[in-house]
Amino acid sequence: MAHVTRRNFLGTASLAAAGAAMGPWVRRAGAQAGPVKIGLVLPYSGVYAVLGESITQGMELVFARENWTVGGRKIEMIKEDDEMQPPVGIRKTEKLIDSDKVDILTGPVHSGILMGMRDKVHNSKTILIVSNAGADAISRERCSKWIFRTSFSNWQPNQPMGEWVAKHVSKDVFIAAPNYQAGKDQLGAFKETFVPAGGKLVGEDYPKLGETDYAPYLTKIRQSGAKAVYAFFSGSDAVNFVKQYDQFGLKQSIKLTGAGFLTEPDVLPAQGKSALGVITGHFYTPLLDNPTNQRFVKEFQAKFGGKMPDGFACQGYDTAEVIVRALKAVNGNTQDKPKLVEVIEKSEFDSPRGRFRFDPKTHNVIQPFIYIREVREVAGGINNVPIDRVANVTDPGTGCTLPRPPPLPLWTCAARPGWSRGDDPQRFRGSACRVICLRRR
Ligand code: BEZ
Repeated sequence: MAHVTRRNFLGTASLAAAGAAMGPWVRRAGAQAGPVKIGLVLPYSGVYAVLGESITQGMELVFARENWTVGGRKIEMIKEDDEMQPPVGIRKTEKLIDSDKVDILTGPVHSGILMGMRDKVHNSKTILIVSNAGADAISRERCSKWIFRTSFSNWQPNQPMGEWVAKHVSKDVFIAAPNYQAGKDQLGAFKETFVPAGGKLVGEDYPKLGETDYAPYLTKIRQSGAKAVYAFFSGSDAVNFVKQYDQFGLKQSIKLTGAGFLTEPDVLPAQGKSALGVITGHFYTPLLDNPTNQRFVKEFQAKFGGKMPDGFACQGYDTAEVIVRALKAVNGNTQDKPKLVEVIEKSEFDSPRGRFRFDPKTHNVIQPFIYIREVREVAGGINNVPIDRVANVTDPGTGCTLPRPPPLPLWTCAARPGWSRGDDPQRFRGSACRVICLRRR
């Protein structure tokens, strides 16, 4: 029998432990043939069509960088237009899960569609990476182990703005948003800090989603005695609201503020000078000076005919980045869904918005910053210039009871060259190592 030294015993034991702990998802790597199918449920028509387009382009930028092949498998995007209709979005979700058998689902934009999709996704154990819809409930009482969100909860861009507007703009504010879940969530979050900061709501209104004539609402605003307006509108609603607000002559006398979606670069070219001076809160502006964002803006503009990326494109970029990193971590094997969830949970990377990571308690992104931005004329055109910021904006996650992430595997140290299990506690790249590690001599 071969003599077993302490060193070769540790080496063999480490490898065995590593193999056992890695489990079948690594050993079967390469066994899965065919492309990784990614289903997109997005609006390619209607009020939010420009949002769907930007999200898709952000994803395409990342997949193109990887030559549309990750972990040895081709990436196939299956795009479905939800037409901004919850029943259509739900039907398309069922088709993608049951007929196309997608590996990962992403989208939607509309909070009502997300709420409609939730049970199908949860019950079928399909991984959904929400790339826009902010319905707060998805990070709270309707959270799911299978659902992640790379965009925002509706609460996140708005809650910091309540106090900011009360302190820096006015305490007499009229609020407005489209009459559906996202509108209610977003204005609710604004009120949460506006009223305690001494703010007074002088009026509130909820036009229908897709309204084209805001004149009756603008008349009410003029008569309300408001010194400022706080609004959430997006897509073509944002174009119409901001332009009509200016045409109505309110811009000079009643300061317009809102959630970032109101003046994103998807709508700024159509709004033109009407948007100048509008103050909004958002997790992103293409003017951020971090290197990942500078590269993102340059590559996005080069690929998409000079188009300025918006927050939606950043959301698409981050969604694809999460997918690419997860697929690499499992060597392209998408069969073991709990393992995929586990690796997605640990996603952490430099995004155009700053350091990206999920809150393990809710699977919702932690916003490195919510920027308070003012629309100004700068080099390259009209854009959102950051003037203030609030750090680490994390949804409260009230009522979400996700299972705690599993502890770090025993082979964390053993699998690292030069280290094996022993009696010397170590830390690697910021993640606490569960086992006692010993550097081999
Ligand atoms: C939503 O429905 O959740 C939503 C739509 C557009 C922009 C932001 C949120």
